[in-house]
Amino acid sequence: MSASSLFTPLNLGRYRLEHRVLMAPLTRMRAGEGNVPNELAPEYYSQRATKGGLIFTEATQVTPYGQGYPSTPGIHSQEQVAGWKKVTDAVHAKGGLIFMQLWHVGRSSHSSFQPGGVLPVAPSAIAITTEKSLTPEWQQVPYEVPHALELNEIPGIIEAYRQGARNALAAGFDGVEVHGANGYLLEQFLHDHSNKRTDLYGGSVENRARLLLEVTQAVAEIWGADRTGVRLSPFGTYNDVGDSDPIGLYSYVLPALSKLNIAYLSIIEARGGSGMEIGTPQSVDQLRPFWPGTLILAGGFTGETAGEAIEAGRADAIAFGRQFIANPDLPERIRQGLPLNHYDRSTFYGGGAEGYTTYPRFTDKA
Ligand code: FNR
Repeated sequence: MSASSLFTPLNLGRYRLEHRVLMAPLTRMRAGEGNVPNELAPEYYSQRATKGGLIFTEATQVTPYGQGYPSTPGIHSQEQVAGWKKVTDAVHAKGGLIFMQLWHVGRSSHSSFQPGGVLPVAPSAIAITTEKSLTPEWQQVPYEVPHALELNEIPGIIEAYRQGARNALAAGFDGVEVHGANGYLLEQFLHDHSNKRTDLYGGSVENRARLLLEVTQAVAEIWGADRTGVRLSPFGTYNDVGDSDPIGLYSYVLPALSKLNIAYLSIIEARGGSGMEIGTPQSVDQLRPFWPGTLILAGGFTGETAGEAIEAGRADAIAFGRQFIANPDLPERIRQGLPLNHYDRSTFYGGGAEGYTTYPRFTDKA
């Protein structure tokens, strides 16, 4: 059975994982007052933790200005640090590892989320037109034209990530992942469709990659590069991004990240028909030669196809999203070839325990 290659150890930065079935970062929009993880979060995450396994938190804003959706958790207040500490304690009690995904949505926000009602920030004053924004009351509204960051505002962005990284350390995480995917701030800078700057942070590939590299460097200074990772979606178009030459761009970005000696790179692979990505799995494979380190892939994998990807050397580990929402014991189900629970899309975002902590383990049914 080809899934067996998923159950071999893997060195990932400072850690040695016992298997390669990872839980992908998954936004669930259930944070409580003050965007503190809710009281069910320790149970939700620890249900999905395994001894020697690695799970990722949902994207977590490093500053109130980095929020763009209702009830997403933050890592910028002491209350949030205390809330996350309960999560990391619960995961560690199961012998698992948990990395926090550090997030700034950039222009994928609305002034109703912003302190003082200011406009969200972006590399350039270009609004998202392919998606609608939500307000804190879950109202769908058009995205606004964002405020193009002044050159002298960029150090403040890097500082927000640095502080988020410090707070994540205080909350007891095992590592951090810089969210450079899915059309959020760092990808808005990377892609030429959303970045029309003419200063040090726009134009050439080197300039568009600068913020991602500076943020990664700042975070790695807090955590050590061997506990820092980066997530990218090179062929993504979600949130109205996209690059005219993704191979040209990422064939620069990957070696530059590699020079920082980070623990791993995580890439979201194109999934046919999702409408969220362009390109194909073959496009990701074109980038493989530019990344000599540990590679995590995600996007529509099954146990079988994940095992094949490991065997073929396409990836070192696979992050599962939707299947991990519905199957708290996903690694064990894959290992034994057991049937999976079906996920219910209607409870992905918002709500309470239903569809969050209520999916049964296989053994619950026996
Ligand atoms: C996601 N995804 C995602 N990615 C990310 O980097 N940070 C996040 O917070 C989220 N949030 C999120 C929420 C939900 C409900 C879904 C379905 C997806 C993308 C996710 O990590 C993964 O890359 C994709 O879901 C593809 O993997 P699967 O679901 O095909 O295994």
